[in-house]
Amino acid sequence: MCGIVGYIGHREAYPIVLKGLQRLEYRGYDSAGIALYDGKDLKMSKTKGKVADLKKRLENEISTNGTVGIGHTRWATHGEPNDVNSHPHYSNSGDLVIIHNGIIENYDALKKELKKRGYTFKSETDTEVLVNLIEDVIKKEDVKLGKAVQIALNQTVGAYAIAVFNKKKPDEIVVARLGSPLAIGVGEDEFFVASDASPFIEFTNNAIYLEDGEMAVVRRHKEVKIRKIKDDSLVDPYMHELQLNLEQIEKGGYEHFMLKEIHEQPNAISDTYRGRMLVEKGLIRMAGVDDNMERIANAKRFIIVACGTSWHAGLVAEYIFEDIARIPVEVEYASEFRYRNPVISENDVVIAISQSGETADTMAAIKLAKEKGAFAFGVCNVVGSSISRETNAGAYTHAGPEIGVASTKAFTTQITVLTLMALKLGKFKGTISNSDFQFYLQEMERIPGKIKKALESDELIQKIAFTYKDAPNCLYLGRGYNFPVALEGALKLKEISYIHAEGYPAAEMKHGPIALIDEQMPVVVIATKKGHYEKVVSNIQEIKSRKGKIIAVVTEGDEEVRELADHVIEVPETIESLTPLLTTIPLQLLSYHIAVLLGKNVDQPRNLAKSVTVE
Ligand code: AGP
Ligand code: GLU
Repeated sequence: MCGIVGYIGHREAYPIVLKGLQRLEYRGYDSAGIALYDGKDLKMSKTKGKVADLKKRLENEISTNGTVGIGHTRWATHGEPNDVNSHPHYSNSGDLVIIHNGIIENYDALKKELKKRGYTFKSETDTEVLVNLIEDVIKKEDVKLGKAVQIALNQTVGAYAIAVFNKKKPDEIVVARLGSPLAIGVGEDEFFVASDASPFIEFTNNAIYLEDGEMAVVRRHKEVKIRKIKDDSLVDPYMHELQLNLEQIEKGGYEHFMLKEIHEQPNAISDTYRGRMLVEKGLIRMAGVDDNMERIANAKRFIIVACGTSWHAGLVAEYIFEDIARIPVEVEYASEFRYRNPVISENDVVIAISQSGETADTMAAIKLAKEKGAFAFGVCNVVGSSISRETNAGAYTHAGPEIGVASTKAFTTQITVLTLMALKLGKFKGTISNSDFQFYLQEMERIPGKIKKALESDELIQKIAFTYKDAPNCLYLGRGYNFPVALEGALKLKEISYIHAEGYPAAEMKHGPIALIDEQMPVVVIATKKGHYEKVVSNIQEIKSRKGKIIAVVTEGDEEVRELADHVIEVPETIESLTPLLTTIPLQLLSYHIAVLLGKNVDQPRNLAKSVTVE
């Protein structure tokens, strides 16, 4: 996820673009860059780091005048965050310049083709491929920029919000959207383009939001023309009148980043499998696994090291790796592992899971494992983070920046990556049949839609939250794949609402925690149809006979648990091993609403930090 911004009009572009980037920094902040056109020439400055770093550098590097400009704040997906990989990117001739938010999946094939035709590339990004593809179309077909963008985009697979400028046609900016957001602010003889309306809110309340598959030519003194990328047909622009304030816009209209990130999960998950899961071909492509297949698939054992929510994702992965790829797995708290003199051999693969990629204990665990000869694989969200650099190979989650301290979309995208990895290994090892493999891929593709469905219970969950907001304690129970989900649900409640909560395997309850149950105790039970259903129903009976209050997460249409529970929250049906991707959603919402009702600081809970870089 990145932030893009552009301006064309009668004012100086630089201050508008710079301020716009600062407002879009929540979308990504590993590097930033701006290109300005001063009426004669294009000037560009870009750097690894934040927009503040760019400001310092840019003002020493180039003059800042010009009434056209584009800027970018990056969250890398292709190529580590460094000066060269930062956007904007020039085309080979230096005439075109582009900013991009998204992923061009087939960039590698396009790059090879362009190289054959003599194009050279400075960066490792997919974006630089796209700008040269556009240039190639202009040269070959002798068309204008708008047409060239349209032709080029029809050759790409992936997601994008782009803005392209051609210094030979300096009165226009061409923008396009598929999968990533793009708003056009329409002022008096001036236009703004941006990932959301925050960069232009003080200049105009009129905005056109491009729909997926649409592009626009934004031209001085002209009306915005919108076309469909597929067939070039004209679309009538719909002008929105903005009523949101700045903060609301940055949070996408949500009250908190956490809530926004909960709702981002359908897209985050499809971004995670985008380009990796080729359903029609029955294939999963993951470069980090493909390049080291023998080493990983022949591992005697996987040791997963992580902390907090990432550790919970590791527990889900333990079930799935053992189930599908038949590889023995141990899941370790990184902080314990590193001080335990663990037995590690060269036949082990150690998988570090970390959203930030900076967690000190996880980093130390990886270093230790490497010293002992193990192969280290990283599952991180932040591209170019310390753990992703320290590991021998890895797979990014592509969830986009997670700002809320309570981890939500990082968790579900970690599970997604690890599931893809297990499926890939299972297929390679022959431990999963082709038909099951195929079924998994199809079902994974349905998960984003099913999460959307699960999110529809928000109102009901809010009511349940109201009923239990003053409870001093809460229990979370689940079995199998949903045991780690119970742990994660309890962690979410603890960290943002400060209510004491414990997660247990449902069957463990009778070995102790059952003593806690009385009519005051809310017990959240995950009781989906796939996954030891009958056993969990018996556990629910046990709670009921001790008068505990039961909040059950069930499969759509469930009747049996409905009879027993005080509240039921439905999620759509799926394969057992994918249920955590759905059952997690109501638990995230429950803790969110309780914290809000209690007036807690949801995005920055007390005593916590987003990235724990100390032991
Ligand atoms: C979860 O909501 C947390 N805030 C925390 O447990 C987190 O998952 C943990 O600190 C690990 O962070 P990482 O994924 O960045 O390594
Ligand atoms: N793929 C582009 C890059 O790596 C854009 C990243 C994004 O939007 O997330 O630079």
